[in-house]
Amino acid sequence: MNVRARPFHRLFATAQAMLIQWPVVFSFLQQHALLLNSRQGSFSVGTTPVPEPGPNEVLIRVEAAALNPVDWKIQAYGVVVETYPAVLGSDIAGVVEQVGLNVTSFEPGDRVITQGVIGMNDRSGFQQYTLGYEELTAQIPGWMAFEEAATIPLGLATASLGMYNVHSTDTSAGLLPPWEPNGRDRYTGKPFVVLGGSSSVGHYVIQLAKLSGFSPIITTASLYNAPSLLALGATHVFDRHLSPSALRSTIADITNGPIGTIYDAVSIYETQNLAYDLLAPGGCLVLVLKDNVEKDKKSADRRVVNVDASISYAHNRETGVSLYAALSTLLANEEIQPHHVEVLPDGLRGIPEGLKRLQAGVSNVKLVAQPQLEGRWK
Ligand SMILES: NC(=O)c1ccc[n+]([C@@H]2O[C@H](COP(=O)([O-])OP(=O)(O)OC[C@H]3O[C@@H](n4cnc5c(N)ncnc54)[C@H](OP(=O)(O)O)[C@@H]3O)[C@@H](O)[C@H]2O)c1
Repeated sequence: MNVRARPFHRLFATAQAMLIQWPVVFSFLQQHALLLNSRQGSFSVGTTPVPEPGPNEVLIRVEAAALNPVDWKIQAYGVVVETYPAVLGSDIAGVVEQVGLNVTSFEPGDRVITQGVIGMNDRSGFQQYTLGYEELTAQIPGWMAFEEAATIPLGLATASLGMYNVHSTDTSAGLLPPWEPNGRDRYTGKPFVVLGGSSSVGHYVIQLAKLSGFSPIITTASLYNAPSLLALGATHVFDRHLSPSALRSTIADITNGPIGTIYDAVSIYETQNLAYDLLAPGGCLVLVLKDNVEKDKKSADRRVVNVDASISYAHNRETGVSLYAALSTLLANEEIQPHHVEVLPDGLRGIPEGLKRLQAGVSNVKLVAQPQLEGRWK
């Protein structure tokens, strides 16, 4: 059964009511999804079954799904995903359509965000309905649009897990999270550097560093992005095109305090090696990509960790659950602000073009698709 988006939505409530008597009806419902058809293959819009929420899960009607670099990397390099056709998409915002057994925090109609699980089609964002784990789902406050909310899950998880996953110090600086008791302003007066403050990940790192009390919070970006980064909580924004030596001396002019935590949200060879040179003995450098710090400059007293943002995986889950337990309140209080949004045209069919743009490079913005848009078939 190949149904179109809007009529399908109306059918949904009827089907849900029927489910109690005829569960088999539910499993036949189909939805639009953007499929990556094979490893390094092409994308096309097709249909997949609407998943059913199990215990402690919610079924979400996806109103907005943001694009991430990992989505184009999976397609371009054939990495991470093993089973095709694959549905991608890690950033999900929408409406709870149905709750599974034992769910107490959400009810149908709630506006929520959750993070997709790469490699699991039923838990991915580039489709019209997806599943969320109750404990890794948060409420969107009334003031925030779905498209803004969709910018949050993966970027915030990457920032949070890299900084605060005390349960996995191989992948994290292991700081005390600001959302936990005694965590707020815990690092008052200590300097913090984040390279790439205008990236999606950097956007959330700056805000978390502020909640942790770090000061100064020094970042790099194209200078036209400086005002928005200062508004988020950065105290100093330097041109990302400065030479490493110029940047080192500029930072030294601001703080002579040892820089114990540096988050490299870019993590190319140049930024990693610059960051490592800035790092104080006993400090930790957090990377979002593979460690490429020159071996001969490494010392045992300066840690380098690689963050892994798979929030539902065992080594991340406890920190993820503690973050999501606090997240609805952090958002409602406007203590975490979403990233800037550009909405893509053509619903799911606009995503492949968006991924090309992401690969070419975007500046201080998140590209967001609207899977419920009924686009014209090509
Ligand atoms: N390990 C994980 O689990 C994980 C999770 C999420 C993301 N990642 C990786 O993290 C990286 C960032 O992802 P994202 O979504 O945050 O990227 P993004 O938003 O697409 O990054 C774009 C931004 O990068 C900035 N930038 C580029 N080169 C820079 C440089 N040399 N110095 C400073 N800023 C620079 C640009 O700044 P200007 O426009 O201001 O110049 C631009 O705003 C990607 O490689 C992604 O694959 C890893």
